[in-house]
Amino acid sequence: MATHFILCFQVIMFFCCTVSSADISCRNEADEPVDWFIIYKLPRYKVGVVGSGVEYMYLDSTVGHWQMSKFMVNTSQGAIANTLNQLYMGKAYKSNSSVYALYNDAPPVLDYIQGYGHTKGVLLFDRSQGFWLSHSIPHFPSFPERGYFYPSSGKVNGQTALCVSYQYEQFFLIVKQMVYIYPRFYNCSVPAAFLVDLPQLAQLCAGSKPALTKDKSVEQLFSVQGDRFVSFVKSEHFVDDIYTGWVAQVLDADLLVETWQRIGHELPSNCSLPKHTMNIKRIQLPGSVLFRSDYDHSKWCVSLAYEDQLTCLGDLNRERAQLWRGGGLVCSFNPLIYKAFRQAVDWYISC
Ligand SMILES: *[C@@H]1O[C@H](CO)[C@@H](O)[C@H](O)[C@H]1NC(C)=O
Ligand SMILES: *[C@@H]1O[C@H](CO)[C@@H](O)[C@H](O)[C@H]1NC(C)=O
Ligand SMILES: *[C@@H]1O[C@H](CO)[C@@H](O)[C@H](O)[C@H]1NC(C)=O
Ligand SMILES: *[C@@H]1O[C@H](CO)[C@@H](O)[C@H](O)[C@H]1NC(C)=O
Repeated sequence: MATHFILCFQVIMFFCCTVSSADISCRNEADEPVDWFIIYKLPRYKVGVVGSGVEYMYLDSTVGHWQMSKFMVNTSQGAIANTLNQLYMGKAYKSNSSVYALYNDAPPVLDYIQGYGHTKGVLLFDRSQGFWLSHSIPHFPSFPERGYFYPSSGKVNGQTALCVSYQYEQFFLIVKQMVYIYPRFYNCSVPAAFLVDLPQLAQLCAGSKPALTKDKSVEQLFSVQGDRFVSFVKSEHFVDDIYTGWVAQVLDADLLVETWQRIGHELPSNCSLPKHTMNIKRIQLPGSVLFRSDYDHSKWCVSLAYEDQLTCLGDLNRERAQLWRGGGLVCSFNPLIYKAFRQAVDWYISC
């Protein structure tokens, strides 16, 4: 029944929305609209090799597998810059017909303030559609007036970014999820014409904290092309490891988890609950790109079992202090995304 509904929904979505290059959207390496993309920025320190810290691998539904980008992440070319340039170059930040929000617990320039969710990303959309880019890079992206800029602090470690293009109505759900996370919005604009649809985004943007009746929430999101993503978010009041205490159990899947774990603060692999969570220690991307998770600031997980086809990218590390933080994961059941990440698991600690 549920499968029928999803299938039917995807067919409708497919026929109703053709991609126009003028629409706000995630953009690929060639600056063309794309339904979603994922970037894996490689760490500077790989096993036996010191790199530049600005190379990255690129994945979307049309390329099919990880591809080494010909661009560097710190130039205004490549998928992330192409996507953000709709805000920077398009001057969408001055427009009263589009909404944007830049959020990062560690914003560029400004001081770190405690109390916000551990989350980083960008929303940009108009009444037709737009994108949600979520990533792991501190001090990024820059303020709109400054134009595209990649901070040098983001070079040393590995980082990931997930961009998905959504129709306007999906942003109502995304904003509902944001309320749980309570991101630090360091620059945003919600023009008057959007206040009726997005009152909570305006509130968050203005620095206030809308009230919540629960401590966590799950929402299904459908991309412009009808691909299904599932957003899991928790507030600071759900004090537990999001992977072990919640997502592995509700999705009924053992997880292999790659997160940034500082020595002495990490949560060990955990097999106490019915579904297990095991820490990845080494990553291998195509072309013999091998690196240790100590140099990887990204946050993602995959199901251990190939049948589950689950991949999530997100905000939180398996670290004791982050039990008390708001944050979330965006999960996908796309076989292509699963294959790319599952095959990247080189070594994990079982229990
Ligand atoms: C990008 O980073 C590389 C490596 O640190 C550096 O050599 C290059 O000059 C940088 N380019 C820009 C445009 O900042
Ligand atoms: C939006 O901006 C345009 C052009 O600057 C202006 O003419 C229009 O009145 C504005 N609309 C609203 C609702 O503020
Ligand atoms: C941030 O956003 C607002 C409204 O969009 C804008 O007026 C402001 O100048 C921006 N920049 C900074 C540095 O706050
Ligand atoms: C495993 O994780 C659960 C949920 O976070 C926690 O209650 C339990 O104490 C953990 N077990 C160990 C051995 O750390």
